[in-house]
Amino acid sequence: MKQEGKSVTKGVGKIIKQRKNKQKEQLKELGLENNDNKIKKSKKTQKRYIETKSYFNVNQFKKNVSKEKKQEEQSSSSSGATQTSSKSGTLHDVFEAKLKESKFRLLNEKLYSITGDEAKKMFAKDKSLFGIYHEGYRSAIKKWTIDPIEQIVKRLKEFAKNKVVADFGCGEARIATLAEQTIIHSFDLVAVNDKVTVCNMAHTPLKDGDVDVAIFCLSLMGTNFYDYIKEANRVLKTGGHLIIAEAESRLESKLTLFKALQQMGFELLKENRYDNFFRIFEFTKKNTEAITTIPKIEVSQIFKPWHYKKREK
Ligand SMILES: C[S@@+](CC[C@H](N)C(=O)[O-])C[C@H]1O[C@@H](n2cnc3c(N)ncnc32)[C@H](O)[C@@H]1O
Repeated sequence: MKQEGKSVTKGVGKIIKQRKNKQKEQLKELGLENNDNKIKKSKKTQKRYIETKSYFNVNQFKKNVSKEKKQEEQSSSSSGATQTSSKSGTLHDVFEAKLKESKFRLLNEKLYSITGDEAKKMFAKDKSLFGIYHEGYRSAIKKWTIDPIEQIVKRLKEFAKNKVVADFGCGEARIATLAEQTIIHSFDLVAVNDKVTVCNMAHTPLKDGDVDVAIFCLSLMGTNFYDYIKEANRVLKTGGHLIIAEAESRLESKLTLFKALQQMGFELLKENRYDNFFRIFEFTKKNTEAITTIPKIEVSQIFKPWHYKKREK
């Protein structure tokens, strides 16, 4: 009996040894035997690796790849030349769109780093630049969840139709197209349509106190920011409204903005924030006498210089 028991134990030991050896071999195959002590220690992990290996059966994988290849070849031969040309068309479109976006970004950065007069000269020298800029700007707006012009037009609905509006840096004069006021003056450096009056908005052709609502929608770009505010103050009636829409990311300090505008005769009425993306501020003109000086606050304390983040390669 004892003899028999010994031989059974021997047999079981042999089987265990054989299994261990098999597992070792499989681990060796996976390149895990000597390098990964942790895996060697954990039987569960070893099992998982072995299962993974059989799941990703090389032959099956090869079969799948050749099957997919065949399917691809069949579908491309059936659609023929049409598919090739539409593919290259798409690529061309992508490159063209990227190029336009880069040009728009360069122009945008430039406009934030020069004065209104310099910008006017730049656009006068190369007339195509304004078109490039506004094409880029239009496609940028499409990506925004909020269009500040729509918000401003909504606000203008609360004003009587006979209130005089001035849109400083109007672009394509969308406010004049969408809002209901009878008199809407639209100023920009180039006229893209007959609603636009060409001028540097630091010096508009309007008379003192002509205007009820002055608007700057993302147009306070030039480094001579105070000239624009001074001009808005000149043309506004006392008690008139100043609406400024700005990108959240551009604001260095809104409190400094309020302080500077207060020194130029404006008091904050309200402020709206949209999607952490834009702010729209509304001020009222308090002064009755013309503003003759500008604040001693550096513009860089109010706005950050505009730079697009460099894309990672
Ligand atoms: C970002 S676009 C915004 C256009 C428009 N306000 C809108 O929201 O659709 C800024 C516009 O301000 C204009 N601008 C910048 N500085 C100006 C200046 N000194 N005088 C007139 N327009 C100016 C630019 O030419 C440009 O059309």
